[in-house]
Amino acid sequence: MSRLLFEPITLRGMTARNRLWVPPMCQYSVEAQDGVATDWHMVHLGGLARGGAGAVIVEATAVTPEGRISPQDLGLWNDEQRDALAPMVAFMQSQGAKAGIQLAHAGRKASTYRTFEPDHSGTVPASDGGWETVGPSAVAYPELAVPKALDHTGIEGLVAAFQTSARRAVEAGFDFIEIHGAHGYLLHQFLSPLSNTRDDDYGGSLANRARFLLQVVDAIRNQIPEDMPLLVRLSAVDWVDNGLTIDDTVQIVQWLTEYGVDLIDVSSGANVPATIPTGPGYQVKFAEIIRQRTGVPTAAVGLITQPFQAEHILATDQADVVLVGRESLRNANFPIHAAQVLRHKNPPTPIQYHRAYR
Ligand SMILES: Cc1cc2nc3c(=O)[nH]c(=O)nc-3n(C[C@H](O)[C@H](O)[C@H](O)COP(=O)(O)O)c2cc1C
Repeated sequence: MSRLLFEPITLRGMTARNRLWVPPMCQYSVEAQDGVATDWHMVHLGGLARGGAGAVIVEATAVTPEGRISPQDLGLWNDEQRDALAPMVAFMQSQGAKAGIQLAHAGRKASTYRTFEPDHSGTVPASDGGWETVGPSAVAYPELAVPKALDHTGIEGLVAAFQTSARRAVEAGFDFIEIHGAHGYLLHQFLSPLSNTRDDDYGGSLANRARFLLQVVDAIRNQIPEDMPLLVRLSAVDWVDNGLTIDDTVQIVQWLTEYGVDLIDVSSGANVPATIPTGPGYQVKFAEIIRQRTGVPTAAVGLITQPFQAEHILATDQADVVLVGRESLRNANFPIHAAQVLRHKNPPTPIQYHRAYR
């Protein structure tokens, strides 16, 4: 039996050792609230790389202070933040993993209390370190503050902020960049008619709603080296009537490929509250549809927790990469475990630990 999970994959000039990657996962652990990565991030990211992942994608990292989901998010809007990430990138790479970073702006879902704040939830008021949020339109996410609609100058400024953060990501040594276009954050807010009610050239038709994302992609693609892969995470559907559909997303992906995107990380939902039929691999079908209809490589994510389940997704041509999130938090050595279960002859075990695996 072929062991597809442990076959390398090449995107532009980057070859990852396997196709079992770790998706971005916010740690909300910048206690100083300055966006600078800490020892926690080093141990967290370093442990995941040591555990055998083909690539580890650093959590949603804000391109401006106002783009943070919570005050404790990572940022990449200054050089101090870049310099704190650089040794973590080097360590991940020393463990054989490729290092990616998800660049993000939370838009109308910014300035919220982190998920594990004991006494608070929702929007952080200015009196507690919060800030005014922005979005495509003055339409709030339920129970969060009403955002200020961005004007053209604001949009141009954010395109430039994404581009500058991408430059810093390159300087920090990252192997690739993922743009966060999913989960109801700013770029998804523009894409979805549920959050974007603009009547200028950034609203209305799908082409107009995709304009901001395509401008960000274009700016980043022109900034980073030719051989560096660029990924985009999308929410394939909004899971509600009148929201984004899979047909919309297929069209968006076709445009993205024209702008030089190399792989689509296919998630779903989170722009509006919705009832989502979750279960093992519940989003994989979207990765498969996008891959089949556009020819673009995809990553599947969502409740993929078992080695044979992950292998099956690749063996049946549903995706090119499998992302394992929460299971990686439970077991940072999941790729080593998967290699053993699949009887791969060369598990990605650190040499220092070989005596434990004899
Ligand atoms: C603690 C935590 C933090 C997350 N943070 C992010 C994030 O920063 N960016 C993102 O796109 N998705 C984020 N997600 C979603 C995951 O990347 C992933 O898509 C989701 O957990 C489903 O995969 P899983 O079932 O393997 O966990 C987060 C999930 C968790 C559990």
